[in-house]
Amino acid sequence: MRKCVIFDLDGTLTRSEEGIWNSVKYAAEKLGFPEPDAATLRKFIGPLLAYSFREYMGMDDAMADKAVETYRERYNVVGLFENRVFPGIRRLLRTLKQEGWYIAVATGKPQLTSERVIAHFGLDKYIEKIVGPTADRKAEKTELILAALPEAWDEAWMIGDRKFDIEGAIGAGVKSVGVGYGYGSEAELRDAGCTAYCATVQEVIDLLCPGAVPPSGAFLSIEGLDGSGKGTQIRLLTDTIDRFGFELVLSREPGGCPISEKLREIVLDKNNAEMDDITEAILYAAARAQHVRQVIRPAVAAGKVLLCDRFVDSSVAYQGGGRQLGVQKVLDINAPAVDGTMPMATIYLDVDHETSLKRRAAATELDRMELAGDSFHARTEAGYRELIRRDPERFIVVDATRTPEEIGREIAQRVIGRLMEAE
Ligand code: TYD
Repeated sequence: MRKCVIFDLDGTLTRSEEGIWNSVKYAAEKLGFPEPDAATLRKFIGPLLAYSFREYMGMDDAMADKAVETYRERYNVVGLFENRVFPGIRRLLRTLKQEGWYIAVATGKPQLTSERVIAHFGLDKYIEKIVGPTADRKAEKTELILAALPEAWDEAWMIGDRKFDIEGAIGAGVKSVGVGYGYGSEAELRDAGCTAYCATVQEVIDLLCPGAVPPSGAFLSIEGLDGSGKGTQIRLLTDTIDRFGFELVLSREPGGCPISEKLREIVLDKNNAEMDDITEAILYAAARAQHVRQVIRPAVAAGKVLLCDRFVDSSVAYQGGGRQLGVQKVLDINAPAVDGTMPMATIYLDVDHETSLKRRAAATELDRMELAGDSFHARTEAGYRELIRRDPERFIVVDATRTPEEIGREIAQRVIGRLMEAE
């Protein structure tokens, strides 16, 4: 006998409006209708498509059927992936699984589409059964919930964002949680008679798994020479990580917490021209020691994905290579700072130092490190190459001379792959 939880999909596990709206617009354009405005588009979430095309866009029956067909042309290929997993959902599913719950999905979205969306986001490993309408199963919530339950159970919850989910749960004789972060309102869910109302995913975790230890998150870093395009790639990757429902914490080195930001000011200040190389290496390591303990470790322990703009590899490359202190000395200086905390994956934006120099020349104001001569940057590049040679498993090396979009796509695919593997 098991504790069971059945989830609704749209509005509960994922937020799907982007793909729906883009596909409605596509159908309207192809059939020569004016582009629907935002208010009209919002009405399309929930009801059957043909109904919406008739009611909200003034189509007759035949045209509405044609519109549904045209909509599917786009939706079934790209639209279904223009979707986001709500933040915290991965942590909720991982926690439930860890605590031994049976997890299933009962959704009004067609079975096959639902399976594709769930697999795309790598949530299939948590979900034992997916039940949606098929050629011979209607989109009737009670029926879907009953089909999603295992044969024997002693506690079962339906979790959904609309009154249909709550009514379905009552029909199936299971308890229900109405969630407030989806498409329904608190009043709608309470009026429908939900057993519990949760405004956030965290409240669902606290309700079903009180006191559970959060599954651990992941530590990622991104590296490259100055001018390798890290800023742009961090922005693109932030969106991808978020879209997949990982809870991202962005940080940077040197810096990331108040003490380390103060050390950053000292080490990057171009008035500190007399700074000794050893002083510099120790200051970077000191900033890192505080950051590891105050930010990185707590975030990973709380189940977050911490993405750090530079980490100890920067010290090895810049101080070890660039300043010629040597790899071993820099690793020794950093040993008590890092103390075994290393990224599970490090993205390396691969541009040679000549290209990075040209890109830097276009920048407005250079800091103390960027003012160092060209041979410094050549040695820094060599430092990175040595690190990659020593630890090829950890590094995700990407050719950063292509367009930002191409680079972004490759990073997204490889990083998400690693994060899912590690879950
Ligand atoms: P920053 O403005 O953050 O540069 P970027 O945008 O290129 O990351 O400045 C960080 C500078 O500090 C950068 O030139 C690299 C250097 N650095 C080191 O030399 N050692 C280190 O350990 C770290 C973290 C950075």
